[in-house]
Amino acid sequence: MTMIALKGRVLSFDGGPTDAPTCHEHGAVLVRDGLIEAVGPAEAVLAGLDPGVRIIDHHRHLILPGFIDPHLHMPQTQVIGSFGTELMEWLAKYTFPEESRYGDFDVAKAASVFLVDELLRSGTTTAGVYCTSHPQSVDAFFGECERRQLRMVAGKVMMDRNAPPRLLDTPERGYAESKALIARWHGRGRLEYAITPRFAPTSSEAQLEATKRLAAEHPDLHVQTHLSENHGEIAFVAELFPQDADYTAVYERHGLVRRKAMFGHCIHLSERERSALGRAGASAIFCPTSNLFLGSGLFDLAGCRAAGIRVGLATDIGGGTSYSMLRTAAEAYKVLALRGQKLTAFEAFHLMTAGNAEAMGLETRIGRLQPGLEADLVVLDSHATPAMGWRMERAGTLAEELFALMTMGDDRAVVATYALGRRVHDRQGLAETSPRE
Ligand code: GUN
Ligand code: FE
Repeated sequence: MTMIALKGRVLSFDGGPTDAPTCHEHGAVLVRDGLIEAVGPAEAVLAGLDPGVRIIDHHRHLILPGFIDPHLHMPQTQVIGSFGTELMEWLAKYTFPEESRYGDFDVAKAASVFLVDELLRSGTTTAGVYCTSHPQSVDAFFGECERRQLRMVAGKVMMDRNAPPRLLDTPERGYAESKALIARWHGRGRLEYAITPRFAPTSSEAQLEATKRLAAEHPDLHVQTHLSENHGEIAFVAELFPQDADYTAVYERHGLVRRKAMFGHCIHLSERERSALGRAGASAIFCPTSNLFLGSGLFDLAGCRAAGIRVGLATDIGGGTSYSMLRTAAEAYKVLALRGQKLTAFEAFHLMTAGNAEAMGLETRIGRLQPGLEADLVVLDSHATPAMGWRMERAGTLAEELFALMTMGDDRAVVATYALGRRVHDRQGLAETSPRE
């Protein structure tokens, strides 16, 4: 048995999306064998503890559940900031050629190591990840995550048309390769496989039929795909699938609109589509930096919530422009401000943690600081830069502090990241020395 205790300002977003968090200003989290054993005021949590138990004092820093990023692309680091186009041209001109390189295991391995390092540096401990259509890209990514004992959800992209030949599979191959990857990786350690048709424009009717069969054979698996991101994309789907009333109907007809199905973007949905997603218990994933960068549009958070859709917040690297969930939340606020909707700091931090856990169907494992959940944690410094320190002099409440932290913060604010109670990232060794009081 291994035990470790962390002291600091402990914050967990245990209530609904707009509720104030549970906060212990002089708090502690006790971890036993990778799971949270106790959370509360430090005196209570640490009372009677065996003197041999290691205690790490994070002093004035904030201890939260690790950030969760429900939508990003492992092979797209080297297309971030590829400019001058909207979605369909961006895919054809930059993204598909880049992903074509990932049939080489070593390319996928190097990108996976880079991505995981970058996520942990940003305080993100779980993600929903698209690999490429090459099965070895999934082997590379999951192999790296297994080595670091991370909870990750990922899948091989299925795509059999409207892309360069080196990226295409076939209905049979997409099915068989996914099946083999599920057998190899799903449920191994903390890894979960996601059935991943890229999006309707790159799958033939036959491939969607095969995907329907795969999904029916694995009713508990995640599904991840893209939906209603861009007007040109939506018009193309209407052309390719004239029998379906709208974009969402294509996925519904193939049994893909269900619980633990995560639909990236969902910007231009009709009322009918929103209620279909809500009824099915599916999730809409808001990707603000990507939606701004590609000029895709402004996500309607209030509309999605009113329809009963679970909403997640994600980076969508590399249409997105930052790995940091803090940067992502700051841009989410601005997108919603343009829609006349005001995201509060509590709602933003809820989204990054408990809300994203719910959007990924992982709320019984991660996303809150509660006994029995996995001890994936991020430690944040709200005074990380000189400007943040100066700003915080005027932050009178926790809500103000968190809002300024998400508006000004990035990976520099991440003091340390823990997975199963093990430190997997440490900002220049500062975590175990005393930060400014
Ligand atoms: N739609 C289909 N593929 C992609 C992708 O890689 N990025 C984004 N943003 N949208 C997509
Ligand atoms: Fe995406």
